[in-house]
Amino acid sequence: MGERLIELKEVKKSYGSVFAVGGVNMHVDRGEVVGLIGDNGAGKSTLIKILSGVVRPTTGEILVRGAVAQGWSAGKSRAAGIETVFQDRALAVQQTIVRNIFMGREITTVFGMLDVEKQRSEAERLMREIGFTSKVFSPDSIVGQLSGGERQGVAIARAIYNKADLIILDEPTTALSLTETEKVFRFVRNVRESGRSILFIGHNIHHVFDIAERFIVLDRGRVALEITKDAVKSADRLIAFMEHVAHPNGPNPLADVLAQNGAA
Ligand SMILES: Nc1ncnc2c1ncn2[C@@H]1O[C@H](COP(=O)(O)OP(=O)(O)OP(=O)(O)O)[C@@H](O)[C@H]1O
Ligand SMILES: [Mg+2]
Repeated sequence: MGERLIELKEVKKSYGSVFAVGGVNMHVDRGEVVGLIGDNGAGKSTLIKILSGVVRPTTGEILVRGAVAQGWSAGKSRAAGIETVFQDRALAVQQTIVRNIFMGREITTVFGMLDVEKQRSEAERLMREIGFTSKVFSPDSIVGQLSGGERQGVAIARAIYNKADLIILDEPTTALSLTETEKVFRFVRNVRESGRSILFIGHNIHHVFDIAERFIVLDRGRVALEITKDAVKSADRLIAFMEHVAHPNGPNPLADVLAQNGAA
């Protein structure tokens, strides 16, 4: 596996007496797609806000490429190559694809003017790179006219332009049809092919199972399971495990795997 991009050690976040995240150890390596799953309120959003520097952990360490990060912030997270596509707030839908990709980081000429042509060709290159195949749309298309999956693609293209090594996608397929979900999966696979990493948050275990190679299951702020796709073998087994965590009655459906791995 590739370089350890980011690692959390015993990270906790409390709001008053409530622990949204209660002592999490996790990591993402270069070039892997990790699925982050868990029921409502499990702490998924809080965890990605910590990774993206929007929320400061109450205690715990954040390591970036093996080194402990000091004064972790949104700026430091971006500088470290972490880009988060937050649900809903991702794009300016009245604007063009180009405007959305370069917003706040426009390409300018040596005279400080907006380099419209350069931005357009760069947008085209990025869209091709992530796997945009629609011939109907150009970089000048209005984002509001794109389908849901394609909008995720624009947000991903922007993250790549911002030199992301890790792209965090918060529920990117939740509101999407099967066809649109497939588009997002194609973008994710292309991003992975280019050596970048993806942290994919989702409710639909079948979706997450399809796209990720490793899974982290959160339960009430803690990591209930960390397992590879090879080990868990099927989405149904992962779902059975999650049911077991929520309503622990009877044997753990993954007891065989966990015994082999010596982990809980
Ligand atoms: N700003 C906050 N103030 C107080 N409590 C919070 C805050 N943010 C999150 N929490 C609490 O922390 C817990 C974890 O919330 P979080 O949003 O991280 O869960 P989630 O896994 O993203 O859930 P969902 O699937 O519903 O999006 C919840 O009990 C939530 O109410
Ligand atoms: Mg959430």
